[in-house]
Amino acid sequence: MARSLPAPRWAMLLSLVLLIGCMVAPSLAVKHKDFKTCEQSGFCKRNRAFADNASTQGSLWSSPYELDPASIHFKDGILAGDIVKTTATNEKVQLPLTVSFLESGAARIVVDEEKRLRGDIEMRHGSSANKKRYDETEKWVIVGGLEVSKSATLDAQSETGFTNILYGPDGKFRAIVRHAPFGIEFQRDGQTHVQLNHQGLLNVEHWRPKVDRKDDESAEDESTWWEETFGGNTDSKPRGPESVALDVTFPGYSHVFGIPEHADSLSLKETRGGSGNHEDPYRLYNSDVFEYELQSPMTLYGAIPLMQAHRKNSTVGIFWLNAAETWIDIVKSTVSPNPLSLGAHSKTDTKTHWISESGRIDLFVFLGPSPNDISKTYGELTGYTQLPQQFAIGYHQCRWNYVTDEDVKEVNAKFDKYQIPYDVIWLDLEYTDDRKYFTWDPLTFPDPKGMQQKLDETERKLVVLIDPHIKNADKYFVSEELRSKNLAVLNKDGEIYDGWCWPGSSNWVDCFNPAAHAWWATLHKFDKFKGSLQNLFIWNDMNEPSVFNGPDMTMPKDNLHYGNWEHRDVHNVNGLTLLNATYKAMLERKKGEVRRPFILTRSYYAGAQRVSAMWTGDNQATWDHLGATLPMVLTNGIAGFPFAGADVGGFFHNPDKELLSRWYQTGIWYPFFRAHAHIDTRRREPYLISEPHRSYIAQAIRLRYQLLPAWYTAFHEASVNGTPIVRPQYYMFPEDEQGFAIDDQLYLASTGLLVKPVVQENTYSADVYISDDEKYYDYFDFTVYQGAGKRHTVPAPEEKVPILIQGGHIIPRKDRPRRSSGLMRWDPYTLVITLNKNSEAEGTLYVDDGETFDYERGAYIHRRFNYRGSVLSSEDIGVKGPKTAEYLKTMAGVTVERVVLVDPPAEWKAKKTVTVIEDGAKVASTASLEYYEQEAGKASYVVVKKPSVGIGKTWRIEF
Ligand code: GLC
Repeated sequence: MARSLPAPRWAMLLSLVLLIGCMVAPSLAVKHKDFKTCEQSGFCKRNRAFADNASTQGSLWSSPYELDPASIHFKDGILAGDIVKTTATNEKVQLPLTVSFLESGAARIVVDEEKRLRGDIEMRHGSSANKKRYDETEKWVIVGGLEVSKSATLDAQSETGFTNILYGPDGKFRAIVRHAPFGIEFQRDGQTHVQLNHQGLLNVEHWRPKVDRKDDESAEDESTWWEETFGGNTDSKPRGPESVALDVTFPGYSHVFGIPEHADSLSLKETRGGSGNHEDPYRLYNSDVFEYELQSPMTLYGAIPLMQAHRKNSTVGIFWLNAAETWIDIVKSTVSPNPLSLGAHSKTDTKTHWISESGRIDLFVFLGPSPNDISKTYGELTGYTQLPQQFAIGYHQCRWNYVTDEDVKEVNAKFDKYQIPYDVIWLDLEYTDDRKYFTWDPLTFPDPKGMQQKLDETERKLVVLIDPHIKNADKYFVSEELRSKNLAVLNKDGEIYDGWCWPGSSNWVDCFNPAAHAWWATLHKFDKFKGSLQNLFIWNDMNEPSVFNGPDMTMPKDNLHYGNWEHRDVHNVNGLTLLNATYKAMLERKKGEVRRPFILTRSYYAGAQRVSAMWTGDNQATWDHLGATLPMVLTNGIAGFPFAGADVGGFFHNPDKELLSRWYQTGIWYPFFRAHAHIDTRRREPYLISEPHRSYIAQAIRLRYQLLPAWYTAFHEASVNGTPIVRPQYYMFPEDEQGFAIDDQLYLASTGLLVKPVVQENTYSADVYISDDEKYYDYFDFTVYQGAGKRHTVPAPEEKVPILIQGGHIIPRKDRPRRSSGLMRWDPYTLVITLNKNSEAEGTLYVDDGETFDYERGAYIHRRFNYRGSVLSSEDIGVKGPKTAEYLKTMAGVTVERVVLVDPPAEWKAKKTVTVIEDGAKVASTASLEYYEQEAGKASYVVVKKPSVGIGKTWRIEF
């Protein structure tokens, strides 16, 4: 059975089986016929044909779009004007353009359609849909960074036919706006990095009335203009063809990254066929893709239209702010300067073609020059990852389903019995009464409060599933309120839309409506969601939205949302609107609530990082799927949504013990670390696995807990400057071309930890690539690896995940095993130091209460540790606030209990003590030092025992 069905309710069971009978098949492959290809998607096909025509015509092709010179004006950092499109019949279409030069150094280009802005169009089929091009994506996505640059200036040197603007840091950026045909070239330091409409593929399908004529009377192929049928559903398309498209060229760039979500490599592939390339463009149309395939450009559950282009020492990017279905073609062309150069000094350009079904052209251009700069600027626009509660970065235990409250308590007790830490247990679908969210099944969960109280004894949490489809049922208060308050999504005729999902016949809450947010908040209140307690958090699933009987497994595009916007216009941002509503609801659960919400989402768009964590949906228990999680999680990180993970163990099917333990060893490196399994799989909680694999898994989870201080610090870094929590090679070493495409190893933020999980069967070593000539030390036994630009073989017996520490770092850990992260709060720290070539090291630590928003008022510790000239010191890098002193008082007893320094000078062998000087202490004290000599190949190390310096204090340890 493909999807598992609700607890047996006969009538529903039967009708659901009949309805989705065609979906039920034993095959393991994705059902291609359920999802459109570009060829089956009218607007994608039309724009590809447009591109083919342009390329066939070659130099004879000229883009029919011109910027009217008389219309151009530049004021206060904004260039405005009218682009005029000349049609095949010589009609002129006006398209207002604005280019805003932002204080951050980004430029924003918006193109709209004059006639539609004025509402001067006729709708077909008497549709009441909005006449404008959708211009509210930014309302959900953009939270800042739009300040227009005061220093951007018109360049008096512009040649005739061009308008040039100088902008960006120190005026180093230049936008060269070409009038005819219209195009923009972006330069940094005199070099071109991004070109818009360079290939002439700009296309705005303007509104036109439908004229009935025979096929051969039309100059153009109108077959997909007025109606399209897919999967038994006919899209009425009341506004006819309305797509927008633009080509973006990155000259000299051979790698592009980003645009999740796809199950593919980190470095994106070409999409116009050929060996190793895709045939179809990368698609962004959030969908519930059942048993998705790997190495594919097919759409998945989420969409972030942010692309980074990278070449040696330069990263640039674009963000395509459009919530409609979008396809992106990628073609790379390499030119050698002369035929005899045999590839030497050849230059690769990456040419991309962005195609959206409706809405406006609205894109941001970032000129870097580093990947960090893009993360920062993009984050200013769409927001940074929220700093999660501490528990949220611990281990999450989920399955579909824990079947009773007693079951939950038993699982909880077993983790303790086997001494495996975990923080959160999850309840999938079946905890509800008949799949009615905000209720509990009275037979199986008679005492939800007792269950949550039990979990709370060890500071553990419960997460429950709340989906946006509301069972269409009488006497179900949520359904009744949804209908009576008119808060549901409507069909094209303005009636409440009815579709099929887990509960059978369902309606969908329309979170584009502000009133729906207010209502949604009431449902989460403790007195309304009876049986829920403070340690309950939310999982929003199926929010693409998934509709089992809809086209592309989602809603019809002509459905209507608040503001009469068609679903077509808003589809990709739909999931995010639910998250915003849930986030607000969690904050308002109780008056005076001060704790940070936790929400897991499956569907997302740019901006979802502010309010949620994501996971990669329904993967499979295979080695290939395990391997695919690395590029997927890495890609999400560089697209600004680093709180990402994948179902550990694989959702579908049963992993064998080797695969399961390797998956845990990999999963501890996902920022969001949760095991999950389909209802038809066998139970696989870590304690059920026989030895020795149980111990391998337990060790891996304990390693995650040991490094929680480093993880939390990495999350803090992401929350203030947008950097990924786990990072790919190119991001760490932007100058090392050999590393650009590497996507099977990762770095934990700036800690110096380099990990290459084993993702192949029967494999007992890993070839770790090292870019620089620092020494790298094995995390467990300090074996030394050194040598830039090559792979080093690191042993990886089944119990071991290969981890190296780059020289030059100080890593904070907590080495005492506990049952949950909450119970580690007052535990002392261990600092591990590896020295770089100059015998120096650096590291940071961020700590707060892991729960409230008090850190916004200074209740945190932020330290920089430095090792230099044989002295280790701790320096305050926080900013004091009204709550700092009070917080520091609570942390006064938390100290450093151990310092491990790897590869010390040989003369330290004789050393027995170090001097410890804590700020404010009258006299210096000493702590003991032990030297551990190791055989060749492994570095020696020293351990300082109980220096007992306060973690929140300023101090020095002199070796
Ligand atoms: C979807 C989710 C999966 C969940 C299931 C039942 O398939 O992706 O994680 O277990 O729904 O709620």
